[in-house]
Amino acid sequence: RRRVAVLISGRGSNMVSLIEAARAPDYPAEIVLVVSNRPDAAGLARAEGYGIATAVIDHKAYGRDREAFERALDARLAAAGADLVALAGFMRLLTPWFVERWFGRLVNIHPALLPAFKGLDTHERALAEGVKLHGATVHFVSSEMDAGPIIAQGAVPVLDADTPDSLGARVLELEHRLYPHALDLVASGRARLAGRTVSVADGPAAPGSLI
Ligand code: GAR
Repeated sequence: RRRVAVLISGRGSNMVSLIEAARAPDYPAEIVLVVSNRPDAAGLARAEGYGIATAVIDHKAYGRDREAFERALDARLAAAGADLVALAGFMRLLTPWFVERWFGRLVNIHPALLPAFKGLDTHERALAEGVKLHGATVHFVSSEMDAGPIIAQGAVPVLDADTPDSLGARVLELEHRLYPHALDLVASGRARLAGRTVSVADGPAAPGSLI
């Protein structure tokens, strides 16, 4: 089983979906560590409730020195023997130093169908654009924000009566299915980097898309 560290900044509902999936004995990954850059992240207590090791690496302690923060993070990941890192609502931009060090072993979930709606307030912006399908993306992290080879995507309908909250709740429910699926593809070696894209080895049996 691949050893996965999950990085959070907040409530950690996607982290919980990964922890729950990894409880299945045939899941190809185990969650060995949860790290938050914020001491008050609600997800820390949830991880502890599952008996998972947690760490706080408070970015504020490092001032503007992003690399010093990341060197501390990297040391903690190495100490835990992490093979893969999953960002789950981790709201810090990572420097090229960290991203290159972990490239191909570092994944993120973003609440939109990339490359549409990078950045924040994705549900509000999807409604403003009048898109009829919205969703979530799991991708390998590259040094540009919310970009990098796409591993899996899922789509949900946008309904006429939607508010950012109602649409966001529909997407979040999808995220909780999508992220465990995508991590399964990566940890089992079925999702492989092929230049700027990812190929999924098992074809229709393990699609990169969820609806
Ligand atoms: C999720 O919707 C995740 O996709 C998003 O933050 C939320 C975290 O919720 N991530 C980003 O916007 C990253 N650009 P959670 O803490 O309950 O998993």
